[in-house]
Amino acid sequence: MSKLSTTFLGHTFANPLMNASGVYCMDATDLGALHTSDSGSYITKSCTLEARAGNPEPRYRATPLGSINSMGLPNKGYGYYLDLARAHDYSHKPLFMSVAGLSLADNLVMMRTIRDANLPAIVELNLSCPNVPGKPQIAYDFAAMDAMLAAVTKEYTRPIGVKMPPYFDIAHFDEAAAILNRYPTVAFITCINSIGNALVIDTESESVVIKPKDGFGGIGGDYVLPTALANVNAFYRRCPEKRVIGCGGVKTGEHVFQHLLAGASLVQVGTALQEEGPGIFARLNAELIALLDRKGYKNIDEVRGRLKTL
Ligand code: SIN
Repeated sequence: MSKLSTTFLGHTFANPLMNASGVYCMDATDLGALHTSDSGSYITKSCTLEARAGNPEPRYRATPLGSINSMGLPNKGYGYYLDLARAHDYSHKPLFMSVAGLSLADNLVMMRTIRDANLPAIVELNLSCPNVPGKPQIAYDFAAMDAMLAAVTKEYTRPIGVKMPPYFDIAHFDEAAAILNRYPTVAFITCINSIGNALVIDTESESVVIKPKDGFGGIGGDYVLPTALANVNAFYRRCPEKRVIGCGGVKTGEHVFQHLLAGASLVQVGTALQEEGPGIFARLNAELIALLDRKGYKNIDEVRGRLKTL
């Protein structure tokens, strides 16, 4: 076992790094680049029952502190990603599939089909897309989230994960965690999706910078690192039977280390991957190894959840 290798849901990962769903994962070309990169695993674009063109462009913009997007779930339909999952070489690295049905009924159709395919792919159910007009984020409606998980886990009895939005209040951490803890097969929690419905304004043009939703979109990158770490740690503390995947604001090996300290088992990279490309994984791994060496850690499992409080 190398310093960075770890196990998660019975799979072995060469390192804890992967893409955040939405980045470098739309099609076989993108995913091929992740396959040959130094990521430990990767995840497909959040899929819907039918293919979607998504929101009008421009719908992503990098900013000095991160990014804003309102992609609107452009994807090739779940059958496309299921075919890729069938062809995937699982001995090379594990694969996650992200599922984001526009309704409970759609999710049930997709989850049944994925179940029946009986593949080693790990499903991350996206409960937090902020960018589909008229479709609020499910995980901000606790009754809807509970109903979704009850129905999905009844049909799909293998372990799954959930992609969560950021919460900003202790009462909401408590309530969301209590719901997730009702479902033992919800084996992991990915924290966080972008901070939804932010507004970036360009002073010179006196304009918003993306077209959909009058410029409102989810922000990622530097803006979100402390919020991501808080959510990782909040769910790590409240859901001891589950694993947490950290996502948000990662662009250095030190940021990966901070997610591990907060309680993450694996760490996803979004905006920084979009901007730097898949070569980022080699850099992050090297920076993480250097930090582990400097601090005398033998492996990443020693780091997980060791965050001290004052
Ligand atoms: C999108 O396609 O709009 C992004 C997906 C997400 O944030 O869940």
